[in-house]
Amino acid sequence: MPHESHEPRLPLARGPVSAAVAEYLRGAGPLPDHEEVAGAAVYGDDLQLALYLCYELHYRGFEGVAPDREWDPDLLRTRAALEHRFLAALRADTAVHDSVDDALADLLVEPLDGTGVSHYLQKEGELWQLREYAAQRSLYHLKEADPHAWVLPRLWGRAKAGMAAVEFDEYGGGRPDRVHARLFADLMCDLDLDTAYGHYLDAACAEMLATVNLMSLFGLHRSLRGALVGHFASVEITSSPGSRRLAEAMRRTDAGPAAEFFYDEHVEADAVHEQVVRHEVIGGLLAEEPHLAADVAFGIDATEHVEGHLAARLLTDWRAGRSSLRTPTVSEISHIS
Ligand SMILES: [Fe+2]
Ligand SMILES: [Fe+2]
Repeated sequence: MPHESHEPRLPLARGPVSAAVAEYLRGAGPLPDHEEVAGAAVYGDDLQLALYLCYELHYRGFEGVAPDREWDPDLLRTRAALEHRFLAALRADTAVHDSVDDALADLLVEPLDGTGVSHYLQKEGELWQLREYAAQRSLYHLKEADPHAWVLPRLWGRAKAGMAAVEFDEYGGGRPDRVHARLFADLMCDLDLDTAYGHYLDAACAEMLATVNLMSLFGLHRSLRGALVGHFASVEITSSPGSRRLAEAMRRTDAGPAAEFFYDEHVEADAVHEQVVRHEVIGGLLAEEPHLAADVAFGIDATEHVEGHLAARLLTDWRAGRSSLRTPTVSEISHIS
C-alpha cells in the first residue's frame, strides 16, 4: 500500500463550474462566475463536485495544487457562493422536525418495507454491488471521523468530552491498525478495490459527493456546530443496525474477513457511541446552548435527506441492473465479480 498517503489527482470536471474550479486550482483559469454558480443544479454533479474540490483542500488536497490554496480568498468566496446554494436547498427541503427528540425518534423507525440499501445488500446484494457500495463510501470512510474532528474546539464541557471519547475510538484508540479509515482500507483490499485516497472520486455519483459535502459544510462552520452534532448523532444511531446487515451481506458473499470485520466492529462500537452522543454530546451541548436545538434537529434531518437521495440512486440503478458508478472506472469495478 505504498500510495495511500499520496495526494489524489484532480478529478475530471462534470460541467462549467467544476471545470472552472479545477482549472483555477491548476493555475490555468478564472473561477466560475456568478451566473454559472447560480445556474448549476444544486444537488447535481457539477455543483457538488465543485464544492467537493473546495473542501478537499482542507483534508489532503490534490497533486500539483499548492497547499496554501486552502486559504485563497477568491476561492473561499466561490466556496461561500456554492455553500450558500447548498445550505439554502437543505434548509428548504428538510423542514421536518421541530424538536431534537422527534428527529431522533424517527431515526429508529426502520423502513416498513425493509428497502434501505443495507436491507437490499443483506438480502440480495451481489458482490459487484458490495464493491460499488464500498467504492462510493470510500470517499467518506477513508477520512472517517475527520470532518467531525473540526467541531471539537467549538464545544466544551460534557459535549467536548463525549465527542472526544467517540473520536478516540474512531481513530483506533491509539492503535494505527485500528483506525477506522485503516479498517475500511482493509475491507477494500478484500473487495479488490484500490485503497488510494480519492481513487474513486471520478466514479462516485453526485449523491455520494453530497453526503461528504454535508459533513464538511457542518464541520467547517462554527455557526453550524449544532447541525454537525445532529449529523454525527444521525450517523452513530443508524450505524449499528445498518452495520449488522452489511456484515451479513459480506459473510453471505464471502467477501473476506476484513470486509466482515469493519462492519462487525461498528455493530458493537456504535451501540456504545449512540449512547455517548445522545446523553453527553447532544445532552451536554443543549444544556449549555439550548438555542441550538433547532440546528441539531436540522443536522439530523439534512443527513437523512442526503442519505435518502443516495439510497434512491443506488437502488434505482441496481434494480435496473446498472452500475451506480460513473465512467470510466465502472467496468473496472463491475466486471470483476
Ligand atoms: Fe467508525
Ligand atoms: Fe462510531
